[in-house]
Amino acid sequence: MSKSATTVPAKKIYRPETRLVQSGTLRTPFGETSEALFLTQGYVYDTAAQAEARFKGDDPGYQYSRFANPTVDMFERRMAAFEGAESARATATGMAAVTLALVGQVKAGDHVVAAKAMFGSCRYIVEDYLPRFGVSSTLVDGCDLNSWKNAVRPNTKTFFLESPTNPALEIIDIAEVAKIAHAAGATLVVDNVFATPLFQSPLALGADCVVYSATKHIDGQGRCLGGVVLASEKFIMDNVHMLLRQTGPSMSPFNAWVLLKGLETLAVRVRRQTDSAATLAVALAENAKISRLIYPGSPDHPQAAIAQKQMRGGSTLVAFEIKGGKKSAFRFQDGLKLIRISNNLGDAKSLITHPATTTHARLKPEQRAELGISDGLVRVSVGLEHPDDIVEDVLAALEGV
Ligand SMILES: Cc1ncc(COP(=O)(O)O)c(C=O)c1O
Repeated sequence: MSKSATTVPAKKIYRPETRLVQSGTLRTPFGETSEALFLTQGYVYDTAAQAEARFKGDDPGYQYSRFANPTVDMFERRMAAFEGAESARATATGMAAVTLALVGQVKAGDHVVAAKAMFGSCRYIVEDYLPRFGVSSTLVDGCDLNSWKNAVRPNTKTFFLESPTNPALEIIDIAEVAKIAHAAGATLVVDNVFATPLFQSPLALGADCVVYSATKHIDGQGRCLGGVVLASEKFIMDNVHMLLRQTGPSMSPFNAWVLLKGLETLAVRVRRQTDSAATLAVALAENAKISRLIYPGSPDHPQAAIAQKQMRGGSTLVAFEIKGGKKSAFRFQDGLKLIRISNNLGDAKSLITHPATTTHARLKPEQRAELGISDGLVRVSVGLEHPDDIVEDVLAALEGV
């Protein structure tokens, strides 16, 4: 490594955009401009004694890419510097990050409280998977602070929420839920995928751990899966480090490299996509084919005051309910020419999802109804195309409903 191995210190001294481009870079003696891709499984040692010392922890350096890799390290350092976290661990997917952050904290006999409005796979972990190992869970209405308080038990270990929620874009008061968790001796884990690290900083609001699916806005161009867990050094060492190292849902160095390049443009992309999403929300406001419009940046969002308090921007997502239920929602989606049907989000390409038949199809109809996921609800992930083209595509497809 060159003497300036890390070009920008992990400390939060530069503005977010600068940290996204520069933080965490490790330069080799070749002095490359772009981050090097260390596509290697393992590492060699000069002597047997060095190998022994490395395994004892007396010799700094890498051992095996399931535990650590320089390209993955750069991604972790950049994410930690951006988020203002002491420590980060990159994972193969967002679901691996969620699973490590939750499973790593609990043992048989513990209890977890989570907001019921969450991504289907996260709900599976809390509702179906953890109970198999004797960890009980209670799902609450995340927007109702009393329901968090009432769910606490003496054995409650952690709270889990996402905000804005997927797909109905409800906003949960992170600072208030953190206070309830801490008063109960529990931690709070926040899935910050929908807000993005640009617009919301859960650790600064009192959360103990933040998780991302880097698959979404961090890549932002539909290429790689990835995830990351961010927290204090203590939280990571106590709960995440050994579980990741020993069970192996590690991020591939290639994906870390792609995601590092994604971080460089995150602020530019997310700001532009958010502006276009706001334009789409305004264009849809009075549309007669729509019965409900949900946009976190809008002043008439039901939790607008909380959004104002804890978010620095709106959202790249807009959700709306088309009159006429599933039939109309399907006709609308099939009528789109530019926006593609997908269950993904955060991409440069605008994507549309019908949650009731895809991401949330596993839930019972009454569970979906409770979460506001009607058969007419669609969620648009607004991309980087010209905003007028996006708006025209949506309005033309609505005409055909
Ligand atoms: C809110 C949220 N959390 C977690 C995930 C899981 O991420 P991944 O697909 O990278 O495992 C998703 C994926 O859609 C998501 O929307």
